[in-house]
Amino acid sequence: MAEHDGSGPLPPPSALPSGSPVSPLPSLLPLPSVFDAPPGWRPPAVDTDSAHIARVYDYLLGGKDHFRADRQAAELLQRANPQIRDACRQQRDFLRRAVTHLAASGLRQFIDVGTGLPTTPSIHQLARAAAPGARVVYVDNDPIVLSHARVLLSDGAEGTVFVDGDFRAPEILLQDPALRSLINLEEPVAVLVTGLLHFLSDHETPAHHLKTLMDACPPGSHLVITAGAADLSVDLARATAAAYRQCAIPCRLREAREVLELLGELEPIAPGLVAMAEWRPDAAVTRAVRERQIAYGVVARKG
Ligand SMILES: C[S@@+](CC[C@H](N)C(=O)[O-])C[C@H]1O[C@@H](n2cnc3c(N)ncnc32)[C@H](O)[C@@H]1O
Repeated sequence: MAEHDGSGPLPPPSALPSGSPVSPLPSLLPLPSVFDAPPGWRPPAVDTDSAHIARVYDYLLGGKDHFRADRQAAELLQRANPQIRDACRQQRDFLRRAVTHLAASGLRQFIDVGTGLPTTPSIHQLARAAAPGARVVYVDNDPIVLSHARVLLSDGAEGTVFVDGDFRAPEILLQDPALRSLINLEEPVAVLVTGLLHFLSDHETPAHHLKTLMDACPPGSHLVITAGAADLSVDLARATAAAYRQCAIPCRLREAREVLELLGELEPIAPGLVAMAEWRPDAAVTRAVRERQIAYGVVARKG
C-alpha cells in the first residue's frame, strides 16, 4: 500500500504525486465492509501528501508503511535529532517492559489507545507471553492504521479487537460494543497511551480524557503513558519538537510537573516518573543514553 522505495534524495512535497492507491488487505476476519472495497480503492481522509505521525513513526522504526511526505518528515527529524530512531525504539522498549510487568502482576485486560502501525512484538503477544489469555483492545483514529487491523490481529483474533476510536472522545470509546464485548470494567484494566500525548495541545484536554478513561476502570487498574519532556535533554527535545512543527505536526513538550498532573490522583509505581529508558531497564543505562532522553515514561495505579 505504501511506497517502499526510501532510497535517493527526496523531492519537495510540491513535486509529489497526489498519492498511491491503497490496496485492501486479504479478507481474513469479519471486519467492517471497508475491507471489501475493490482494488485501487483508497480509504477516505487519507492525506498522503502530508506527514502523519503513525507513518513517520513506522519509518523511524524501520517499518514499510509510509509515503514520501512521511519519509521527508522523518529525514527532517533525523537532522534535528540524530538519535530520534533510538528514541522511538526506547518508547517501544518501555512499552514492552511496562506491559510485561503488568501482565506478570496479574493484569489481564489491556486497552491500547493510539496503537500505531503493526510492530513486533505486538501488545497481545507481549501480554500473553506473561499472561496467556490476556485480552487486548487496540484503538486508533487513523484510517491507515485501521486498514492494517487485520494484519495486527491475524495471530490473535481470539481475545483481541480493533476499535476505530478517538482518544479525545473517551465517552464514546468506552461505549463501543466491541470494546465492551472484550473488556469487563468490573475488573482491573491496563490503559496504554504512549507516543500520543505530546501530539496533543492543552486545549485538547488530555488530562481530562485520561481521567475519563481511568474513572471508568476499577481500583487496581493502571495507566501507562509516555510524554515528550521539556526538561530532560532540553536542546534535543526542543529541536525535535521544532522539526515536528515544521512538518505541520503539533508537538507539546511537558515538564515533569505537568506530566504528573496528567496522572491526576493515580499513584506512580516504582520507579515513578523517569526518562523512558530508565523505567525498569533490562540493563544498566549508559550515560550516553541518559543524556539523550527526550520523553518521560510512567506507570500509575488507581488505588
Ligand atoms: C507515534 S504512534 C504511537 C504508537 C504506539 N502507541 C507506540 O507507543 O509505539 C501514535 C499513534 O496515535 C494515533 N493517534 C493520534 N491521535 C489520536 C487520537 N486522537 N485518537 C486515537 N489515536 C490517535 C496515531 O494515528 C498513531 O497511530
